[in-house]
Amino acid sequence: MPNVSLSLGKNSYEVHINNGALDSLGYLVSHTRLSGKAAIVTDSHVAPLYAERVCASLEEAGYTTSLHVFPAGEQSKKLSTVETLANEMVQAGHDRTSFIVALGGGVVGDMGGFLASIYYRGIPFVQVPTTVMAQVDSSVGGKTAVDIDGGKNLIGAFHQPRLVVADPTTLTTLPARVLREGMAEMVKHAAIRKPKMLLTLRRLAEEIELGFTLSTIDQLPQIMAENIAIKARIVEEDEKETCGVRAFLNLGHTLGHGIEASLPLGTLLHGEAVSLGLRAALFLSRRLLGMEATAERDLLETLRALELPLQLPDGVEPERALQLTASDKKFQAGAIRFVLLEAPGKPVLSDAVTQEDLQAALEHLTTPY
Ligand code: NAD
Ligand code: GLY
Repeated sequence: MPNVSLSLGKNSYEVHINNGALDSLGYLVSHTRLSGKAAIVTDSHVAPLYAERVCASLEEAGYTTSLHVFPAGEQSKKLSTVETLANEMVQAGHDRTSFIVALGGGVVGDMGGFLASIYYRGIPFVQVPTTVMAQVDSSVGGKTAVDIDGGKNLIGAFHQPRLVVADPTTLTTLPARVLREGMAEMVKHAAIRKPKMLLTLRRLAEEIELGFTLSTIDQLPQIMAENIAIKARIVEEDEKETCGVRAFLNLGHTLGHGIEASLPLGTLLHGEAVSLGLRAALFLSRRLLGMEATAERDLLETLRALELPLQLPDGVEPERALQLTASDKKFQAGAIRFVLLEAPGKPVLSDAVTQEDLQAALEHLTTPY
């Protein structure tokens, strides 16, 4: 089974990626130093699909479990849900010897991880991601957070999971739109470190178009593992995003977040906003760093094959998106720190992007590709 290891000193852990891994969860958890009771945190879409298998696997390995379900969606990723879940866990008898199993997409992982970081001043947690977004990105790296009115992910903590168990067969129950949006992060990883992977992603897009076949599913663990490894190596270099390397993972996210935030919550999925942000970053990379047009085309064709948006949807006011971009936490001390590409595989952190450049990039996004 493909594994990806994260070597982070005492915070090191393994990411297991295997078709059917849900049923081995108890066994895998028992091979970490985790003991105590397991609180399974999940959402209302994932619970009926996978919670029973996860509980059964953990119980078979000797763990006592309790299940905690919140309403699915980004709207739930907030402090009041964390409080509700914490109260439920207290009622179920969990203390500092317990651990959390976050079963679901990025919302469950970010919020379950955050709850673990503060429950009894911090308990361990296991990520069991069930979306593409969560399997290749959010479950790995230890960023946990909730949203507040002031912005997305503004209250959070670095809290590395003790283990990540990704079962790509869970992706077969995803709505097509959610499946595709997660692939935007796979394209982002390929653009940062492994442009050769773009071809694999275009092939995968074709196969998904035809519906999941057994052969597609068989290939997934290897493809996911290669993609996860890109993020894993970056996190190892810069666990807490202090030396700039981890910031490369924000490629496409700066304007993407501004665009996402300019619409009512949930109108654009996170990965769809990232797709638009990637197109903007490619435009700026050409404008400011002279990146080759062929490189831009290669990346845009991959996003197009995945049917991800490349043009601003109706309702986005570029001025509002610009304003919200300027208030994003990726702007340090008022200066714009923007991730650009000299070429695919060669990201740079640039302070040279001006408001005029951002305006031009947003203008560019109003044109069809
Ligand atoms: P999500 O968790 O809301 O999942 C999307 C939808 O799919 C939800 O309705 C969910 O219930 C449903 N779902 C999940 N798994 C399913 C399955 N196997 N079958 C059927 N339905 C399923 O959203 P997401 O796209 O997974 O994650 C987005 C979140 O991740 C955002 O909050 C974003 O900020 C966060 N994120 C965090 C990081 C990080 O490093 N921590 C990185 C990227 C994104
Ligand atoms: N998703 C960006 C990061 O983990 O740093």
